[in-house]
Amino acid sequence: MGKRLLQVIAAIAVVFVAAQLVRPDRTNPPTDVSRTIQAHAGITSELVAVLDRSCGDCHSNATVWPWYSNIVPFSWLMAYGVNEGRKAVNFSEWAGYSPEQQRKLLAESCHDATSGKMPGSYTALRPETRLSYQDIDMICVAAQKAEVDAGHVQ
Ligand code: HEC
Repeated sequence: MGKRLLQVIAAIAVVFVAAQLVRPDRTNPPTDVSRTIQAHAGITSELVAVLDRSCGDCHSNATVWPWYSNIVPFSWLMAYGVNEGRKAVNFSEWAGYSPEQQRKLLAESCHDATSGKMPGSYTALRPETRLSYQDIDMICVAAQKAEVDAGHVQ
């Protein structure tokens, strides 16, 4: 191997190691159970289990951070994804949404689960997050029920 190539490899190694020092925020904020979707009237425990399993890593305060989330660039990517996911919808902070927002988020969840947008390609990394037809149906039934309860649908 030429000296030049060795120098390039050494430089890349130094950058890689130095990058590990830039730690993204990988925190799980504390959860007040009374504010979670679990505590919400009309949400079944079966649905809560599905949301925990398939959506919880990005849409709750109870993210399970895998070992590779310690390593740059996965740490940056995952922290970014979780941050964006929690901003879009956080099932641990369900009480913070108005009834109208809750209906909209459930309707979008039904739509995204049906189209496969959620949990999307994450299922390749974590196969256990894959949704069955029954799981998707459960999300959509809850969305439909919320509309009926609000008097929007007969
Ligand atoms: C790997 C992380 C990840 C998982 C797992 C995940 N989501 Fe998301 N979700 C996101 C991100 C990031 C956004 C915001 C950006 C976007 O829309 O792509 C989002 C957005 C959303 C939105 C807002 C509307 C929209 O489409 O932008 C809803 C509703 C949603 N997700 C529902 C779910 C449900 C329900 C599940 C479980 C079946 C789930 N997500 C699983 C990362 C995830």
